[in-house]
Amino acid sequence: MDATPLSRIGEKNGQTATVRGWLYNRRSSGRIQFLIVRDGTGYLQAVVARADVAPSVWDTAERATQECSLTVTGTVREEKRAPGGYEMAASSVEILGPSENYPITPKDHGVDFLMGLRHLWMRSSQQHAVLRVRSEIEQAIRDFFYGRDFVLIDSPILTGSSVEGTSTLFETDYFGEKAYLSQSGQLYLEPAAAAFGKVYCFGPTFRAEKSKTRRHLTEFWMIEPEVAFLDFEGLCELAEEMVVSLLSRALDRCKEDLKRLERDTSKLEAVRKPFPRITYRQAIDKLRKKGFEVKFGDDLGADEETALASESDQPLIVTRFPAAIKSFYMQPDPEDPEVVLGLDMLAPEGYGEIIGGSQRIHDLTLLERRLKEHKLSKESYEWYLDVRRYGTFPHSGFGMGLERFVTWVCGIHHLREAIPYPRTLKRIYP
Ligand code: 4AD
Ligand code: MG
Repeated sequence: MDATPLSRIGEKNGQTATVRGWLYNRRSSGRIQFLIVRDGTGYLQAVVARADVAPSVWDTAERATQECSLTVTGTVREEKRAPGGYEMAASSVEILGPSENYPITPKDHGVDFLMGLRHLWMRSSQQHAVLRVRSEIEQAIRDFFYGRDFVLIDSPILTGSSVEGTSTLFETDYFGEKAYLSQSGQLYLEPAAAAFGKVYCFGPTFRAEKSKTRRHLTEFWMIEPEVAFLDFEGLCELAEEMVVSLLSRALDRCKEDLKRLERDTSKLEAVRKPFPRITYRQAIDKLRKKGFEVKFGDDLGADEETALASESDQPLIVTRFPAAIKSFYMQPDPEDPEVVLGLDMLAPEGYGEIIGGSQRIHDLTLLERRLKEHKLSKESYEWYLDVRRYGTFPHSGFGMGLERFVTWVCGIHHLREAIPYPRTLKRIYP
């Protein structure tokens, strides 16, 4: 008999079915064993009653240890109290692969221990739920841009130039030349915007972040749209629209997973666009009133971000930062040339920056000057400057860190649980 995926076990109500998976947990009363089987799509409680099965079946069930792989056949019946709403009266149990001394037990382990066993830890219900939410959001991102006629442009991972400053570049040898792991696909998207109008990329990006915070990975996934003739206002709206759309998709399709994570989803349901906005200058004033010693020109750190974002249960869009603290490519505000048309979107509940973006400089001379000011060698950017040489056009784009977004949606503490195999300052195993 073909195995029934546990996500569809309800279709077999009242019938005989076979399920295949791994033993998540076992309880025994001496006369009855409850085997919780998981198969990646769901969980099912299989009930093995000593009085109803052959002695060999009972023995096999007793030998089943945590995370052994097994096949169970029996009659499916509705059981409101069981996880998933169904259980199975087992008539046969077969162990396919034993699992001796599975290292992750239901007791409390430290995160470092669990991260060293990430390849196994992802079987645990909460980690499993987070990664399913991530997968749903990734699909939602693709659907969002596909539905708006964006063209997917995969940007390269091996690159010759920095986008977000030279201090976080991972350097590698490229046949005797220096190459870097991409910090962002943006520079490659801007030329593509001239070719296709609306483009996006979605892939891994790398930063040699020496900081050991819960918000930083050295390898993370970024979603980056870039749009020809989109002004700064339009960019803020696109960012809002995307966030609202992804949240509603997660709330709609990830109910079970978010429940397993004990996420208070009312906080996510309450998110409405337009989001509150504040300029950097206003933010500095506000922070000073709150007792922070900050002045124009200072970068906003995690504490400052949290203080600003905590005023509302909506994401907060901070705009118009001093040019000096932002990347070289950001367009100055014509009404206040000391600041640039850049935005940071801060998630509520203390999750910090999830999106960074800007209108881009489209004037060749100004861009050349900025490269010089940032001590970036013009030769590496000649191709990028061509976008301004041949039919320049105003354009804007942003980048959203996937793990930052997933961490917020799931309501978890640390970014490292929002990616299958996290890379951090201290971890490249497994
Ligand atoms: O603000 P950032 O540095 O912006 C850029 O890279 C632009 N070139 C994007 C663009 O306009 N196309 O990074 C964008 C987002 C941040 O808001 C954050 O969500 C995430 O990427 N991010 C990180 N996520 C995890 N670990 C890190 N070390 C991150 N650095 C940035
Ligand atoms: Mg940023």
